[in-house]
Amino acid sequence: MNSQLNIRVISSIDDTEGWEYRNSNTKEFTHCLHAYPAMMIPQIPRRLLNYYVKSKEALLFDPYCGTGTSLVEALLFGINCIGTDINPLAQLIACVKTTPIDPVIIKFQIDNFKEFIDKESFILTSEQINREFIDKWFKQVTIDKLLHIKNYIDTIEIPAVKNFFKAAFSETVRESSLTRNGEFKLLKIEKEKLADFNPNVYIIFFSKLNRNYFGLLDFLEIYNEHMNKPTATIYGFNTVNHIPKSIIDEGEIDIVITSPPYGDSHTTVAYGQYSRLSNEWLEVTHPETIDRRLMGGKKKSEVRRFNIDLLDYKILEINNIDEKRAAEVYSFYCDLNLSIINISNVIKPKGYACYVIGDRIVKGVKLPTHKAIIEFFEKNNFKHIDTFSREIPNKRMPLRNSPSNIKGKTESTMVNEYIIVMKKN
Ligand SMILES: C[S@@+](CC[C@H](N)C(=O)[O-])C[C@H]1O[C@@H](n2cnc3c(N)ncnc32)[C@H](O)[C@@H]1O
Repeated sequence: MNSQLNIRVISSIDDTEGWEYRNSNTKEFTHCLHAYPAMMIPQIPRRLLNYYVKSKEALLFDPYCGTGTSLVEALLFGINCIGTDINPLAQLIACVKTTPIDPVIIKFQIDNFKEFIDKESFILTSEQINREFIDKWFKQVTIDKLLHIKNYIDTIEIPAVKNFFKAAFSETVRESSLTRNGEFKLLKIEKEKLADFNPNVYIIFFSKLNRNYFGLLDFLEIYNEHMNKPTATIYGFNTVNHIPKSIIDEGEIDIVITSPPYGDSHTTVAYGQYSRLSNEWLEVTHPETIDRRLMGGKKKSEVRRFNIDLLDYKILEINNIDEKRAAEVYSFYCDLNLSIINISNVIKPKGYACYVIGDRIVKGVKLPTHKAIIEFFEKNNFKHIDTFSREIPNKRMPLRNSPSNIKGKTESTMVNEYIIVMKKN
């Protein structure tokens, strides 16, 4: 511990040890909270923060914060942070992971819930939930139990405690649904397995609550060492369009640590679809539109040049095979470029932008996303400091897909990802 700054110093950036962290625990602290596609491993932001941030006054921004891995690490490091994500489920999880709630209140509420389940058997129906959708994805007996839990959560008055319960509820929803394990998209379990699938909803919920409670205790142990009590604030704005000045002013950010999507939701990771069951139960409005609102979700009608030779050439290669796919790919890079312009603007001179990204393959063409990010930033007054490469051993990603769209023909979409470090002039 560096007592002067009260900052945990773990290591300086020495690439020889690699970035894989194969034997490391990636689920410490509140990182244990909730599964989500393509999560960043906490060791990456931890190492970047230790190396690049020298002051406790620093402010971190994660423009694609997902479940808040960078944000949790910023708090453990002792600095304030801001995150944004369009997906309300991601916002909820990030919020719970970064809220230093009094564990006594959580413990009391868990005990109280136990009593409620033992005594109360009357189940209220909820007018708000979309029954047509939910009936397709859950057995009736499961729906009754989930409604029972939901009714209880609705009675919790303290917002942070309510959210803590909602996060455990969301995972319970997913695990007790009729979706296949390990799939990001909504796919029903095989017919022959249906009869035997009878999840114990209350046990699942309790086990999530307990695990999350212990994660919170571990988080608080480190967090409470920081006298400044750093805070995380989570929003739902889209950096492709703008960054509200009332939230982040020009030149206010010291460091961005983020992992943006690898491509449009439709053909890479459908975050909206992954979150649909939870978002329906949590009564999010229009959860079916989320994937269309994410990066690359709105298709451009024509493909233009970025004046980045390699990227333009690769998009042209795809265009020669399939114009529609080329337009989809192009739309994603347009959004990525626009968001980088806005993000560059809020980073202060000498501040850093650290992007964790993989290069995906479309129609057999490997897209140079990590190089495009470097060039987009260079056009915005940044210089390239470093690129670290890592294999993806423990990040939940669909490593194989069917980019050629030939049934049964899969290709590895990515095995490596890059950690790009840019510095503003
Ligand atoms: C790779 S994930 C981030 C994972 C995160 N680092 C974590 O550890 O949980 C990318 C995230 O970007 C979000 N996203 C996609 N397009 C976005 C946009 N235009 N604005 C904000 N968030 C967006 C998705 O909802 C998703 O949560």
